[in-house]
Amino acid sequence: MGEAMNEAIGEAMGEQAGRAVRRVVAINGSPRMEKGDTAMVLDPFLRGLEEAGADVELVYAERLDVRPCTCGRMHCWYGTPGTCCFRDGMQDLLGRIAQADTLVLATPVYIPLPGKMQDVVNRLCPLMEPRLEFREGRTRSRFRDGVALRRMVLVATGGWWEAGNFDTVTRIVEDLSATAGVAFTGAVIRPHAFVMRARGELSKTGRAIQGELQQAGRELAETGALRPETLASIRRPLVSEERLRRMYNEELANANRG
Ligand SMILES: Cc1cc2nc3c(=O)[nH]c(=O)nc-3n(C[C@H](O)[C@H](O)[C@H](O)COP(=O)(O)O)c2cc1C
Repeated sequence: MGEAMNEAIGEAMGEQAGRAVRRVVAINGSPRMEKGDTAMVLDPFLRGLEEAGADVELVYAERLDVRPCTCGRMHCWYGTPGTCCFRDGMQDLLGRIAQADTLVLATPVYIPLPGKMQDVVNRLCPLMEPRLEFREGRTRSRFRDGVALRRMVLVATGGWWEAGNFDTVTRIVEDLSATAGVAFTGAVIRPHAFVMRARGELSKTGRAIQGELQQAGRELAETGALRPETLASIRRPLVSEERLRRMYNEELANANRG
């Protein structure tokens, strides 16, 4: 085999290794935790990742002993670089995130994030190198040497009809990835997620979407990517906009009737 061929194979293998998903930390930011719509969407996705060989750790932001970032002076950059001035559950979590190659941030849309999820995102700061760069038209940092993370994925649920409801949360994770210098692999979004259930049970369509989420997890683990067709099917409308709006407004009118 010629040297050029060896080199090409080496490059391809390197690329493959760069793409492989081996170790995942997933943070579910829903205050409703296991009972929430976010868990209904996230869990099959993580199952797919595990089935394809990834090692997955799931944590609930709500259960973490994590204080909000309130020192107000970036102590983790200026005071004790790489270490937060608060000692709480975040140190442990940061250590585990630093060893993962993939961070999955899962959240309901809460105009835009639930408070505890925002706290966790703010407290990622010690993982960043305290040095500014100008990249892709913006002032950015990057993860410190020793942080293995290569990609971030968003999994999000919303109550309303249209996918546009997810633009802000998507932008947050996209921006965070770009600033940290890692790939934003994509957004797995499920508008009007509650419609996957009927009378408290998963509907037939809900089960089908869970199957697609599992498939998306497997695809991510195997290829390091999420197929646009899979994502489009997962976020497909389950009712018309008009019908959903009518359902909400009737429920609101009933709830507000004296
Ligand atoms: C404070 C608050 C704000 C919300 N804002 C939005 C919103 O802007 N767009 C949307 O589609 N859903 C919104 N929702 C609905 C939730 O995102 C949706 O019901 C989600 O599926 C809940 O997930 P969970 O059960 O895991 O908490 C909001 C819910 C709450 C409580």
